[in-house]
Amino acid sequence: MLGTFTYQNATKLYFGAGALENLAGELSHYGPVVQLIYGGGSIKKNGIYEKVCGILRKNGKTIVEDPGVMPNPTVEKLREGVKIAREHKVDLLLAVGGGSCCDYAKAVSVSVFCDEDPWDKYYLRFEEPDCAIVPVGCILTMAGTGSEMNAGAVITNREQKLKIGHVFGPEVMPKFSVLDPVFTYSLPKRQMVAGVYDIFNHICEQFFCGTDDNVSDYLAEGLMRSVIRNSLVALDDPENYEARSNLMWAATWALNTLIAQGKNGGDWMVHMIGQAVGAYTDATHGMTLAAVSGAYYRFILPYGIEKFKRFATEVWKISPAGKTDEELALAGLAAMEDWMKKLGLCMDLRALGATPEMIEGIADATVLLDGGYRPLSREDVVRVLTESF
Ligand code: NZQ
Ligand code: ZN
Repeated sequence: MLGTFTYQNATKLYFGAGALENLAGELSHYGPVVQLIYGGGSIKKNGIYEKVCGILRKNGKTIVEDPGVMPNPTVEKLREGVKIAREHKVDLLLAVGGGSCCDYAKAVSVSVFCDEDPWDKYYLRFEEPDCAIVPVGCILTMAGTGSEMNAGAVITNREQKLKIGHVFGPEVMPKFSVLDPVFTYSLPKRQMVAGVYDIFNHICEQFFCGTDDNVSDYLAEGLMRSVIRNSLVALDDPENYEARSNLMWAATWALNTLIAQGKNGGDWMVHMIGQAVGAYTDATHGMTLAAVSGAYYRFILPYGIEKFKRFATEVWKISPAGKTDEELALAGLAAMEDWMKKLGLCMDLRALGATPEMIEGIADATVLLDGGYRPLSREDVVRVLTESF
């Protein structure tokens, strides 16, 4: 563990079956007007909407509706949400949904009292908020992004074909999040597995970097093993509470900054390429990551061979006997890809509706970071994308 860091996590979590009963207590800390943020209607079908509205009404809150947050929330929707918050002078932004609703709520929170356009300020110029921030609470219905306990907010600008994440400071983290694994039962299988791979890849992004002996890597290995095991249980038995509960908890810890400590920023190139793919295809986030992972990891493997060997032996329990270093490292990746196929993830870009003509544009839209074992050039990104078809 060689890093120097300050660790703080500002979000209070209520976890487990029935955790929503804690909402009333939290509501007492905020004023009367609540902007109720949700997506395309899943919460109306599974009954969560009625439960939440009942608690809000019982606690004397005025509900300001803000529905229609789409997967990969757009800058137009963000501007609409800011307008609603301003018009009604809301006291709390309550997101009920997956990462898209939670991210959107955070983006609205830093924009309500900001005079500039949020896209330009936070996503193009990467400035930090210098205004009051409206508090955010989350009621999570999908395990995956970790948005319930982090300060990330990813927004898509379809016109500019850019999908960009801003990781804000702790003041933008949700003040509280309610995590009831039962709420995830109604997720379509495709969304569930996309979330599973999102969790797994968040861990990979922080594991495949650095060469020091680091507590974060041991935590990462345990989380990965739990995700592998429980994803297969939930695949066969979607209402298995134990599996859903483990996935939900692992998702939170995969990206709430804990395993980022001492990791010098992490790799994050699968996410950078995946986000650029998302900007072009509007595909489900976890699927974009799955489609480019194989090609990306094979490309960087020679530069991080020790960590890839460790991935094979510690995460996938592959015996090193009789294998060269490269064979062992590749066997780990092959095991990961077998598991991904078993889950039914999209394993190439064609499956997402992308075409080879998009490669140059996606490469242009990819933010290049240098925290991984082999910093990529634009040409390297083109190569990874080409091998992902
Ligand atoms: O919109 P509704 O009708 O609610 O349906 C949603 C949506 O269609 C559905 N869903 C969610 N919970 C459900 C459910 N359907 C039935 N039952 C339930 N219980 O699932 C679909 C996807 O939801 P979404 O919120 O888009 O998924 P996810 O949680 O994967 O969030 C994706 C967004 O988060 C960003 C992604 O880029 C993407 O924009 N990310 C945020 C991160 C962060 N804050 O740190 C990190 C991630 O890497 C990621 O980039
Ligand atoms: Zn992700």
